[in-house]
Amino acid sequence: MQYSCKLGSPNTAKTACLLVGVFDNGQLTPMGKTLDEALDGQIKRVLKRQDFAGDLGQTQMLYDLRDCAAQRVMLIGLGANKRFDAGSFGAALLPALRQLEKSGSTDCLITMPNAADDDTSYRLVRAAVGAAESAVYRFERCKSEPKPSKRPLKKVGFLMGGRSQLKAGERAAEHGQAIAVGSSLAKDLANLPGNLCTPSYLAEQAQALAQGKRKLKATVLSEAQMKKLGMGSLLSVSRGSRQPAKLIVLEYKGGKPGSKPVALVGKGLTFDAGGISIKPAANMDEMKYDMCGGAGVIGTIAACAAMDLPLNVIGVVPSSENLPDGDANKPGDIVTSMSGQTIEILNTDAEGRLILCDALTYTERFDPAVVIDIATLTGACIVALGDQASGLMANDDKLADDILEAGTECGDRAWRLPLWDEYQKQLDSNFADMANIGGRGAGTITAACFLSRFTKAFKWAHLDIAGTAWLSGKEKGATGRPVPLLTEFLLRRAKLTL
Ligand code: BES
Ligand code: MN
Ligand code: ZN
Repeated sequence: MQYSCKLGSPNTAKTACLLVGVFDNGQLTPMGKTLDEALDGQIKRVLKRQDFAGDLGQTQMLYDLRDCAAQRVMLIGLGANKRFDAGSFGAALLPALRQLEKSGSTDCLITMPNAADDDTSYRLVRAAVGAAESAVYRFERCKSEPKPSKRPLKKVGFLMGGRSQLKAGERAAEHGQAIAVGSSLAKDLANLPGNLCTPSYLAEQAQALAQGKRKLKATVLSEAQMKKLGMGSLLSVSRGSRQPAKLIVLEYKGGKPGSKPVALVGKGLTFDAGGISIKPAANMDEMKYDMCGGAGVIGTIAACAAMDLPLNVIGVVPSSENLPDGDANKPGDIVTSMSGQTIEILNTDAEGRLILCDALTYTERFDPAVVIDIATLTGACIVALGDQASGLMANDDKLADDILEAGTECGDRAWRLPLWDEYQKQLDSNFADMANIGGRGAGTITAACFLSRFTKAFKWAHLDIAGTAWLSGKEKGATGRPVPLLTEFLLRRAKLTL
């Protein structure tokens, strides 16, 4: 998609479709009013009929307006004026742009709904770009006859209120596009089924991403190399699979040489059947999404490269399948992790922590400033937070606050759960240093407690994205989360947001 920011009067702007916001009290935005005045009150006359109430997400197409250079005008409902923010702007634009994509307008011009304020403009354009990219995203790689849109939306313009907003908007469009590159990549990898998206495939995609990019390097560790490092926990999971495990490492060197990197560690379980502790059949297909943490890490690194972010960032993705097999982990098995700590595997379906713990120990060698791991780790997190917020747990309050703020700011939210020492005893084992499950209560927290035993060497946060990484039901598909959150976190760290 091409984005541009423009100045000018709304009635003379040439476009296939001019989008104009209306609040739910029937009030037009300032630029909407300007347009209406230039059009002799034609829009207000439509609003008077009250077919269109301005509810969030509602749209109304107007044709053949006199003295208007746009081929059509689309009114978009912005909801309550008092509650209006970048999130509602995105929510208003998503259905509107989907409708445009279907109707065959190849370009459109969005009138900005705010008065002159740079950081609001930055946030609004970021949200709009996110909505536009979501509106046109399709995953048709596995259809024998893909049906691409005949006249796809190709150009989105923003009509800005003033000259200084122009700069803010242009920067926002750039950032928004880079985030979209990352989210789309994460979605594509995640939507691909387990028979195609194997650990080896994920590794190849990481290598392809790094190909030809001076600041990006991909390294893939084989099972033999992991064995040498003592990754007995990770390798115990892949023993039950015909596909070899891979440890994917992406190094993005955009920052000053020697400046400590941010490390992102993502669970890349390309299919989780549960192993010997096998899962029920219903919806098991969705366990192809158990690599969404890894996809999020690869996507975020892609976003960093797309915006030439001036930071050093490391991505580490332990990738494996979890299947039942004669050689698979059995309940009661005890394995030794790279850290030397031993683990009693009481449930083979709690495999994410088993591959992550070794990847986290491995990450120590990069001397990271902070480490964030991202994983579809527990069904309990869906029970706790649903599909709205990712679960956040951390051993450092400042890091946790930074992540929470980044999430709130970009609308890809997280919510913190406690990681009190008292929970740790749920992992006691009679036979090993720890068990891999913590009993009925606080499943999301005890999973994080397990990981915390491997992250003592650094500032660390854990994001459980079990509820946010994909949607089920009719809308089944990857969301690309938490690429926006992680990229926002990095942008703020680089002091590049407005
Ligand atoms: N990948 C699953 C978690 C999951 C389940 C995410 C459903 C999204 C939807 C993870 O490997 C798992 O199976 N966790 C178990 C842990 C339990 C055995 C302690 C779970 O949540 O049931
Ligand atoms: Mn599992
Ligand atoms: Zn899993």
